[in-house]
Amino acid sequence: GEQPELDLKKYIREVPDFPKPGILFYDISTLLRNADAWQVATARLARAIAPWQPDLLAGIESRGFLTAAPLAQRLGCGFVMLRKPGKLPGDTVSLSYGLEYGQDTLHIQSDAIKPGQRVVVLDDLLATGGTLAASVQLLRKVGANVVGASVMIELTALGGRDKLDTPLHSLIQYA
Ligand code: PRP
Ligand code: MG
Repeated sequence: GEQPELDLKKYIREVPDFPKPGILFYDISTLLRNADAWQVATARLARAIAPWQPDLLAGIESRGFLTAAPLAQRLGCGFVMLRKPGKLPGDTVSLSYGLEYGQDTLHIQSDAIKPGQRVVVLDDLLATGGTLAASVQLLRKVGANVVGASVMIELTALGGRDKLDTPLHSLIQYA
């Protein structure tokens, strides 16, 4: 069940100065290791995503896999991996995107999506939005109809939501 009274923020550990001084890290490890909290989080995400009627869920390596894979099982969808370079066999399509310092690249297998399939993309956390925005672009490059994006945690003050041109659902928000 969804246990409407359960406050998921209680299960997220806040770690100051990780991975760098001045960064407050929202650690989902403490949520994942609690069976009830993990069940509730998955149930709430499923309820939010189901109306988009996805054919496939796409998870962003690595923490996005943790939300996307159990949800795909629950919703009866396939699951597709967006991966860091050098991990996927066969033909891939890639997209590079800027980070605060430097850049990063994500890959998808060229044949991962049938033209027009409805895809929802998932990650654990939305910060600047660079990762999720690039993932939406990459999915479109291989023919996806991206119908939404969903994260467990949204850092609202960073404005990442404004980088996206798809509907965005977030389970938990921090300013
Ligand atoms: C983190 C997080 C998101 C991304 C959010 O991933 O899991 O994927 O950063 O940041 P953004 O909105 O500013 O792009 P990270 O690259 O640390 O790797 P991981 O998921 O493999 O731990
Ligand atoms: Mg990540």
